[in-house]
Amino acid sequence: MTATLTAWSIDRYGAPEVLTPVTRSVPEPGPSEILIRIGASAVTRADGMMRAGRPVFARPFLGLRRPRRDLSGTGLSGEVIAVGHKVTRFAVGDVVFGETGLKFGANASHICLDESGVLMKKPVALSNEDAAVICDGPLTSYHFLHEIGRVQPDQHVLILGGSGSLGSAAVQIAAAAGAHVTATCSIRNAALVSGLGAERVIDYTTEDFTTLPDRYDVIFDTLGITTFGKAKPRLTKAGRYICPVLTLPLLGAMLRSRLSGRRRALFAATGLQPPEKLRAHLGRLLEMVEAGTLSPVLDRVYPLTDLIEAHRYMETGHKRGNLVVV
Ligand SMILES: NC(=O)c1ccc[n+]([C@@H]2O[C@H](COP(=O)([O-])OP(=O)(O)OC[C@H]3O[C@@H](n4cnc5c(N)ncnc54)[C@H](OP(=O)(O)O)[C@@H]3O)[C@@H](O)[C@H]2O)c1
Repeated sequence: MTATLTAWSIDRYGAPEVLTPVTRSVPEPGPSEILIRIGASAVTRADGMMRAGRPVFARPFLGLRRPRRDLSGTGLSGEVIAVGHKVTRFAVGDVVFGETGLKFGANASHICLDESGVLMKKPVALSNEDAAVICDGPLTSYHFLHEIGRVQPDQHVLILGGSGSLGSAAVQIAAAAGAHVTATCSIRNAALVSGLGAERVIDYTTEDFTTLPDRYDVIFDTLGITTFGKAKPRLTKAGRYICPVLTLPLLGAMLRSRLSGRRRALFAATGLQPPEKLRAHLGRLLEMVEAGTLSPVLDRVYPLTDLIEAHRYMETGHKRGNLVVV
């Protein structure tokens, strides 16, 4: 009998209900591939954008009329159960975590991935659930804060959206870098965000950081809440406004700020960085996990069969940290 894999297909862009469960035969790993039995996979805002085909200007990249790759999910953790004959980095029985990149298909029971991708051995101390989300908030925030924002010890950093997937990781990563961290969140998440390392929290429902006198070396707008124009007066002379949500106004601000002045607006697509660089960043994040300075924040864990429900909750915009399906 041929073994079957369970996965979730997206054959057209739309609401969470376009997700459809499918069964296929478990693939044989190619020469440089490993076959992973997935223990947990992440459900992220980026997965939601991929499913919805938003922003529309990303469609040449995602697929013009329908997703170019029809399976959902990118972040995962699980056990290697078969390897191709050229594989050198992993062996059967290893537990690995990472992301699929543009292959997608992590919200599934099994997947074959090339060993040269963004994959690492999982430390025993990290659960599959925690490991599955590291390539979303922690990896993106590490890349943004260290490479794009160039955060230094004793600098003042403002994290906008401190209770989200990126924000909850960013607070911890900036604090571990020795920065003084202020974060915005609602009052219901204030204790969580302070506990992650924010010296000060601003309740975004009652206070607007742009009207306060403080200045920051780096403002990390994890949700694209504000604009460079509004944030600029709150930046130090060479301060950086960094934002992972690409919009046309941000693109314009990036171009203009490059030509004039020292304050900069910056964006990057972390998932498109070379795998070697991302693996090096994951290595630094694992050191932080081991040192106790980073702990992924998990909100809800769903069974894989409830992926549609997980997408609906993600779309409320009110998750705390991360969601996984197991
Ligand atoms: N460029 C890249 O490489 C890259 C990579 C990954 C993700 N991204 C993007 O990054 C963005 C952030 O994703 P995420 O997963 O971190 O978001 P998220 O987890 O869905 O954010 C939800 C959190 O944001 C809080 N929030 C909502 N409105 C707020 C406001 N006005 N001020 C402060 N906090 C607010 C909510 O708290 P309350 O419930 O209290 O409102 C909630 O805890 C997404 O657009 C994603 O596509 C980009």
